[in-house]
Amino acid sequence: MAAARPDVTTRLRLASGLVLMSFAATHLLNHSLGIHSLAAMEGGRTLFLSAWRSWPGTLLLYGALACHVALVVHKLYRRRTLRVPRWEMAQIALGLLIPFWLVVHVVGTRGVHQLYGVHDSYAYELDVLWPEGAWRQTIMVLIVWLHGCIGVHFWLRIRPWYQQARPWLLLVAVLLPTLSLIGFVDGGRELRARAAADPAWFAAEAEAGDWPDAAERAWVYRVEERVLNGFVLLLAVVAGARGARHLWSRYAGRVRLRYPDGTVVAIAPGMSVLEASRSAGIPHASVCGGRCSTCRVRVGEGADRLPPPAPDEARVLARIAADHGVRLACQLRPSHDLAIAPLLPPGAGPRHVRVQVNPGQGVEREVAVLFADLRAFTRMAEGRLPYDVVFVLNQYFEAMGRAIEEQGGRVDKFIGDGIMALFGVDREPAAACRDALAATRAMALALEHLNQHLAHDLREPLRIGIGLHAGPVILGEMGYRRATLLTAVGDTVNVAARLEALTKEFEAQLVVSARLAESAGVDLSAAELREIEIRGRRRPLRVRLVPDARALPVALAGERRRHNLVRNWWPTLLARRRPLDARSS
Ligand code: FES
Repeated sequence: MAAARPDVTTRLRLASGLVLMSFAATHLLNHSLGIHSLAAMEGGRTLFLSAWRSWPGTLLLYGALACHVALVVHKLYRRRTLRVPRWEMAQIALGLLIPFWLVVHVVGTRGVHQLYGVHDSYAYELDVLWPEGAWRQTIMVLIVWLHGCIGVHFWLRIRPWYQQARPWLLLVAVLLPTLSLIGFVDGGRELRARAAADPAWFAAEAEAGDWPDAAERAWVYRVEERVLNGFVLLLAVVAGARGARHLWSRYAGRVRLRYPDGTVVAIAPGMSVLEASRSAGIPHASVCGGRCSTCRVRVGEGADRLPPPAPDEARVLARIAADHGVRLACQLRPSHDLAIAPLLPPGAGPRHVRVQVNPGQGVEREVAVLFADLRAFTRMAEGRLPYDVVFVLNQYFEAMGRAIEEQGGRVDKFIGDGIMALFGVDREPAAACRDALAATRAMALALEHLNQHLAHDLREPLRIGIGLHAGPVILGEMGYRRATLLTAVGDTVNVAARLEALTKEFEAQLVVSARLAESAGVDLSAAELREIEIRGRRRPLRVRLVPDARALPVALAGERRRHNLVRNWWPTLLARRRPLDARSS
């Protein structure tokens, strides 16, 4: 059994990526000064170069570049399957495109400066790029920036503070390249205007800067060609090595992984359990690559022959107080047959990482609990083929599960045709209550859509009853072996289940406790108010009866995002720039 490797390469790749991202950010910031004037750009450049063209800056920058490229190539070789999440594929593709756009820029600036003593000022660079090369510059900026932003996003997304900071970071991520491109355009226009108005100034600039002649420019393109050829060759070598390893693995024997539903996946030794799931198309939660623990699996048969986890994996397992037999699928590379069971649902994301629950001890937390049940489904299922029943139920579960997750909830479990979901495992209670109401509305809308979709398969439309309540629960991983999952118990859960049962009696689609509505800050005064007795409670519980949850006065997450987008960005997009002739030069 190959032991899980220490995550040094990941850390180095991240550190080098951050250095490159800092360089890109300061470079873009420098470009954006063109909004003011060419002179401002040049002034900023002096500052920029004092950092990045100093000896330490040069060492840091080019060391990071070499390190990052080498580690990315190494990772490309190491990964056993190219079936990766879409975002990861996008990042890889953008990363591979970067050299094809960037090399000529680097050689044409730093290269000619070092070799031919060219003063690669903004005037020089804009003369090369504006206007014919503007599209090339734009594509390069977008590719580099997008690649870096995806990396930063997936690095930070498991940090607890990230959710709060995300809108601001997104603002920076969009504003910086936008301003940079505006600065670039303005700088280019100013240069051309000045050159036309004062040819002597332009000639003096070229003379003083020792701008490259035709032979030196030809040298730039020759170097670019060689570097790109080398890069393509490197990729070909990686592809060849991957192919050779694949062929070799056919002779090296197979390892069988058995999943809880009986699926058996045969893999080559050296492949991680996560890669095995991905290569077989089995959905498997994973947020990072060694830190988040969302990929964890319980190992059954074969666990006794596993070597202990490597230090990094052991640290993560200790952090979540994982019990014996739990391992990280992204780190575990089996060399003998194993039975494994993923512990988190495939859709588990960053919010599942942020749950600071000690699974062994549990934790008390204020959450919103949702129970939903299909009305008269037993009657509807009577006389139907089992296949039809399963088909309809799966369609229903998918629609409801998605509605819940899109509004920030997590499906806790499906019980027969019922659903239990939690909100607020990683959010403060008021937001959790709003999410729960939004999810209820989303579920009602999704059900309406599903009924239209299944109109020919159903004797009568599906109907749903939903109970919502908020309060303290005990959260923890509970169950036995494969049936272990993070769930909640307590009076709040029982009350939510009771409210769901009351939807039948009250003929309402939703029965929600007044406490939850008040905590959410949502005005449900239009809905009938009742007081109900709950067994074991001394005082009656006030609840609101909502006949049709589609009419709930609460925005869905998608609507909130669109609203924020319009509110935050529209003014920026409309902001007028000062005309060229109004700027100081
Ligand atoms: S995917 Fe994050 S620890 Fe395995």
